[in-house]
Amino acid sequence: MMTVAWGSIGCMWNRPFAQIVVRPQRYTMEYIERSDCFTLCAFPEKYKQNLLHLGTVSGRDCNKLADTPFTLMASSSVLSPSYEEASLILECRKMYAQNMDPQCFITDTASKVYPEKDYHRIYFGEIVKAFGV
Ligand SMILES: Cc1cc2nc3c(=O)[nH]c(=O)nc-3n(C[C@H](O)[C@H](O)[C@H](O)COP(=O)(O)O)c2cc1C
Repeated sequence: MMTVAWGSIGCMWNRPFAQIVVRPQRYTMEYIERSDCFTLCAFPEKYKQNLLHLGTVSGRDCNKLADTPFTLMASSSVLSPSYEEASLILECRKMYAQNMDPQCFITDTASKVYPEKDYHRIYFGEIVKAFGV
């Protein structure tokens, strides 16, 4: 699992979607690639430091979940797990994935975010279940 901030929620191809962007070096990407689904979990403010931890340490180097109070649980409609402490859970089935193409950047707003040329991979997931407030 990893912390994500960039993305969007909307309607596409007549389906509700959550869209995320993942850099190729993330360990989590290997799991997303192997699976046909992913979950997005939002947490109460008191877990901010835990989310920072999950967003700065890689699961390649340690069992970072063990350093948090988060409890894995089965999701209802997808195989990807969720977390009991989440206040909002979006269960998503992957619909579309594409590597960002730097030739398509129109201004330098986007290109200046990639000094290492580690362009994100974009995923659109159909929201098949949503729980929470
Ligand atoms: C607040 C926050 C938001 C982040 N958003 C993203 C994101 O949208 N996409 C991304 O690829 N990485 C994002 N990251 C970085 C990953 O969460 C971080 O590199 C993480 O350690 C990857 O873990 P992994 O290697 O176990 O997958 C974010 C980190 C933080 C702290």
